[in-house]
Amino acid sequence: MRIDVLTLFPKMFEGPMGESILGKAQEKGQLEIKLSNFRDYSANKHHTVDDYPYGGGAGMLLKVQPIYDNLEAIKKASPDTKKRIVLLDPAGAPFNQKMAEDFSQEEHLVFICGHYEGYDERIRSLVTDEVSIGDYVLTGGELGAMVMIDATVRLLPEVLGNELSAKTDSHSTGLLEHPQYTRPAVFNDMEVPEVLKNGNHKLIETWQLKEALRRTWQRRPDMLEKMELTAEMEELLEEIKQE
Ligand code: ADE
Repeated sequence: MRIDVLTLFPKMFEGPMGESILGKAQEKGQLEIKLSNFRDYSANKHHTVDDYPYGGGAGMLLKVQPIYDNLEAIKKASPDTKKRIVLLDPAGAPFNQKMAEDFSQEEHLVFICGHYEGYDERIRSLVTDEVSIGDYVLTGGELGAMVMIDATVRLLPEVLGNELSAKTDSHSTGLLEHPQYTRPAVFNDMEVPEVLKNGNHKLIETWQLKEALRRTWQRRPDMLEKMELTAEMEELLEEIKQE
């Protein structure tokens, strides 16, 4: 996968993109991340990237020209890839696991990180998606782009090493993940549930499904409403509500 990021602050990406799973994916050649500073593309002799809004109003807007030219340079450097061009914007569509799954199927993602009050509206005509990472306003799109890159890249085949672990994640299944335990069996009087220690796989599976349902029902009932429940799930949920 190829990822380009357009940002005024490329250094912000150095730590998070170089470490752990993202770092390893790049070392192994599964991923190439290229950062470009769109200030370098400003046609203005002072390299300005922002300007006052027509009609007045608070703050400055990002100009269309530097971003347009930066995108053109990316298209020229890799003319043959199909590109998904994502504008980071608190007014965009909310990012979620489904979107991360869609992004992970793409060959070339381009993220445009805004700063300042907003965008010249014509920038929107250059992109395929406008996406927000949540209902709050950040100082810029950089942290949002890093969140999306992280959630996307871990879904690439072979990046996590254990494909099953991505498939059973909270949000992948539509349910939050069930509680999990590792050794010791008892810690400060807190015990690992008996069923997990007895080796009966059918019983363990049912317990895990029930506890995933319980957790989702308690913490994120909105997720359950969106899901089509199997008969077994309906039955387990009834038990949970009675308990
Ligand atoms: N830029 C500022 N706030 C943002 C948000 N919540 N999501 C994406 N980009 C942003």
